[in-house]
Parts: sequence; structure tokens; C-alpha cells
Amino acid sequence: MMRLFVIIQIQKDVNDVAGSSAELKIPTHIAFVMDGNGRWAKKRFMPRNYGHSEGARSLKTVIRSLAELGVKYATFYAFSTENWNRPQEEVDGLMQLFDEQLDSLKEYEKENIRLLFIGDRTRLAPGLIEKMAECESKSADRTGLTVIIAVNYGGQDEIVRAVRKVAELAGEGYIKPQDISGKFFESLLDTNGIPPVDLMVRTGGEKRLSNFLIWQNAYAEFYFCDTLWPDFGKKELIKAIEDYTSRDRRFGKVSVSKADA
Ligand code: IPE
Ligand code: IPE
Ligand code: MG
Repeated sequence: MMRLFVIIQIQKDVNDVAGSSAELKIPTHIAFVMDGNGRWAKKRFMPRNYGHSEGARSLKTVIRSLAELGVKYATFYAFSTENWNRPQEEVDGLMQLFDEQLDSLKEYEKENIRLLFIGDRTRLAPGLIEKMAECESKSADRTGLTVIIAVNYGGQDEIVRAVRKVAELAGEGYIKPQDISGKFFESLLDTNGIPPVDLMVRTGGEKRLSNFLIWQNAYAEFYFCDTLWPDFGKKELIKAIEDYTSRDRRFGKVSVSKADA
């Protein structure tokens, strides 16, 4: 009886996703600020790091749902350049959790998921840097969803690092000022080759960017929800995409109906 119920429930979930995806406009690139882990744990009188491990579970659920929905790119903010300022115990816990997650991210072979990392790796532990490179090279030929994890990432830091590369190239005589276009600059960012963000989702109730993908979010639609990240799953993801579906993306132009009026 119980088994039958479980099977029916799984079938219902699949239908929910498949049913709604017919009317949904699926963004090419969704970015997530996975916020609210600490508050989620606090509400349960548990340490903040417990919230982070529950957040890692949500990450896996969301990745699978994105793959089912046919999203091509998803970027997740895992650790910001500012997060080093948290208590050492929390930073150590986050780094350890990240290391463990790298092992389980290898599971995504049959889902055809490619993994990439953005952010400044030089401050990370050598073992971690090695594992990240291994995840990237092993999944490089996969053609399904591309999952991009932002670790020691800051939008301002990314831009400063790109400017440094520009200065180096100019200093060595490889480029002239007139060679620097938006496209050229973009190619020096960590996200080189990844399309701009269509939908930026932030959980946890705060309505800010917190230094996330400053350049790439230039024309993104923003979706903020109060759900704390460990409670965010397939249903909430579909709600965000439904909201995105209703948006009129004008990119500075006039919407077609208004232009006709
Ligand atoms: C986001 O959750 C995860 C990271 C920043 C690593 P928080 O830890 O910021 O959770 P709150 O905002 O304190 O609830
Ligand atoms: C943003 O969340 C960073 C990550 C989710 C990794 P924070 O919790 O660090 O952001 P602020 O401090 O509230 O702006
Ligand atoms: Mg937070």
C-alpha cells in the first residue's frame, strides 16, 4: 500500500513538472543566491552549518529539476568574497561541505550535467582546486544542463581581475584601447562563453544582489522570495519560472503591443 502511494506520488511530481512546463517560458540561464541557511537552522535551534548541509540537499533537488525542465545554464552562489568575514568555524564548515559536495557532484554523469566553477580559486585549498579542475575536465563533454558554482566569487573582484588582464595585454602590446569592446571584455570574465542571466532568483527574503554576477545580470529579471534556501525545491522553482513567464522583457525597446497602439 505504502509502496503504491510512493509510486503515485512520484508520477504526480513528474506530471506537475511536465504539465506546467508546457506553458512555461524556460529561461536559458537562471542564477540563484541560495540565502537563508543560517536562519533556517536558527529556527530549529541548530548550528548554522547544519543549515548549510540542508541547503546542499536543496541544491541537488534544484539541479535535477532544472535538468528535467530543460534549463541550459544555472549558476549557484555558494561562497562570496565577503563570506570569508564569517566566523572561522563557519568558513571551515562551508569549505568542508563544498569538498564533500564535489564528490557527489560526480553523480550527475547519467543526467549529462556539465560542471564549471567561477570565482578566484587562488585563495582555496590546493586539494579543493584539484578536485574542481577534475570535475570540470571529467564533465567537459556533457551537453545537458551546465551547472556553474560560484566559490570565492565577487562580481567586483571578477571585474577587477578582468581589468588587470586588459592592462597586461595592453602593456605587452597585444591590444590597443580601440580593441576593447563589450564583447572583448566579457571574454575576460570568469563566465566567458556562458550566456547572460535571464532570471536571477534570491531566496531568504533579502532584496539585494550581494556582489553576484554584476555584469551578467545587466538585463536579468529578478525574482525574490521569502522561502529559506533549505525549503526551496521544485515547486518554488516552478513558481519563479511562472513569474518569469509573465514578464515583458523589452531590453530598452518598446513592447510590440504598445508600439502598435
Ligand atoms: C547562504 O545562507 C549561504 C551562504 C552565504 C554560504 P546564509 O548563511 O547567508 O543564511 P542567513 O542569511 O544567515 O540565514
Ligand atoms: C550571499 O548571501 C552569498 C551567498 C549566498 C553565497 P549573504 O548572506 O552572504 O549576503 P548578505 O550578507 O546578506 O548580503
Ligand atoms: Mg545570508
